[in-house]
Amino acid sequence: MDKKSILIGQTILYNSSPFKVAIEDAFEYSSRGGILIENGVITALGEASEIVASHPDADLHDYSRCLLLPGFVDPHVHYPQTAIIASWGERLLDWLNNYTFPEEIRFGDPAYAAGIAERYLRLVLSNGTTTVCTFCTTHPASVDAFFEVADALDLRAVAGKVCMDRNAPDELRDSAAGGSDDSRMLLEKWHGRGRLSYAITPRFALTSSRAQLEALGDLCRSYPDCLMQTHIAEQPEEVAEVARLFPDSSDYLDVYESTGLLRPNGLYGHAIYLSPRESGRLRETGAALIHCPTSNTFIGSGLFGLRERAGEGHRLGLATDTGGGSSFSMLRTMAAAYEIGQLRGSSIHPGQLVWLSTQGNAQLLNMDGCIGSLRVGNEADIVVLDLASTPAIAQRASRAEEIWEELFPTIMMGDDRAVRSVWIHGKEVLGEGKSWTPRRE
Ligand code: GUN
Ligand code: ZN
Repeated sequence: MDKKSILIGQTILYNSSPFKVAIEDAFEYSSRGGILIENGVITALGEASEIVASHPDADLHDYSRCLLLPGFVDPHVHYPQTAIIASWGERLLDWLNNYTFPEEIRFGDPAYAAGIAERYLRLVLSNGTTTVCTFCTTHPASVDAFFEVADALDLRAVAGKVCMDRNAPDELRDSAAGGSDDSRMLLEKWHGRGRLSYAITPRFALTSSRAQLEALGDLCRSYPDCLMQTHIAEQPEEVAEVARLFPDSSDYLDVYESTGLLRPNGLYGHAIYLSPRESGRLRETGAALIHCPTSNTFIGSGLFGLRERAGEGHRLGLATDTGGGSSFSMLRTMAAAYEIGQLRGSSIHPGQLVWLSTQGNAQLLNMDGCIGSLRVGNEADIVVLDLASTPAIAQRASRAEEIWEELFPTIMMGDDRAVRSVWIHGKEVLGEGKSWTPRRE
């Protein structure tokens, strides 16, 4: 039986989506809250004084004015692109050919894949992200490498083997049947093991034949509770190329819909250039659109209409898209989403950005019953944010009159220095005197 722990700091608990109700009605706040953790699970949330009085035997971790949030959830990343993040000067299709594919070829070596998986997870944890949903490469060993490190850390994580059987180098191409057979094998091996789950992963329409997409559509039908992740309508050149390659489809989404890949458990990255028909079908289906703002500015893709899509009733996520995205940090990602909102004439509230990065993203991964909020009964994946981590941030935060004003400078200017501690499943893995410590059985 684990010892009880109590974490003390400022706490926020959402009771509704701040895209559906006014922000002041969406959350409960405590300036000195307490979180009781037993056996990896949050068993009480309330005023620190009351929780401490009721559990005098617990270990106390008093983080003073820090903000305790659920660990960030990043629902669209490419861990194999860790080493080529911030590669200069290309648009999507050339960036894939000139930087991404040559790097992904290296994952044919399982030792290389294991090294990058460890490096990647170390980086995201130090940025306060405790759950990711990642694309791997076409090599099954790239999936094993990722899941092995995630499991050693006891992370809740999602990953899938990228499937592509055309328009990619020989070393990265699978086949229609081979891609789906390998996906099924990996899914059977990893889905539901510990805290891990599998996502069926056609890279995007351009790198798959119709036969491959159909085979993956069949696989989705066999595993309806499994997530499916892909990309859609990220750049105009890509949309035009999809129209050329799939002349029988009426639009980009129709390529997925006609092959069984439009589904409620579908995660569609970018989705900037959707027609009204495509947007309407995605919304009716209850599929998720994932906004990747640092990627959309870095690769020059365009400005996603977050506020508009929320108003239309879409399910929405917010992600780094590392390494097309230029960051490992959900703080930086929230800042970029705010800036894109400003450029489109709508100011996204910090409470909406934080909700997306935690509970909203957890919902998309079907994990809001276990992570993404400080709700009693959830697994204790927690990030402790120092809201005065640099002199520039501290001097602005000191003027704040309420929690969102105090947090906003950290969103706009913060980085991994703001991450004071990270707890995973009730254990502190990063924090005072702790370097990153993988759990090994
Ligand atoms: N579209 C297809 N593959 C990718 C990728 O790796 N990154 C991004 N940003 N878009 C893609
Ligand atoms: Zn992506």
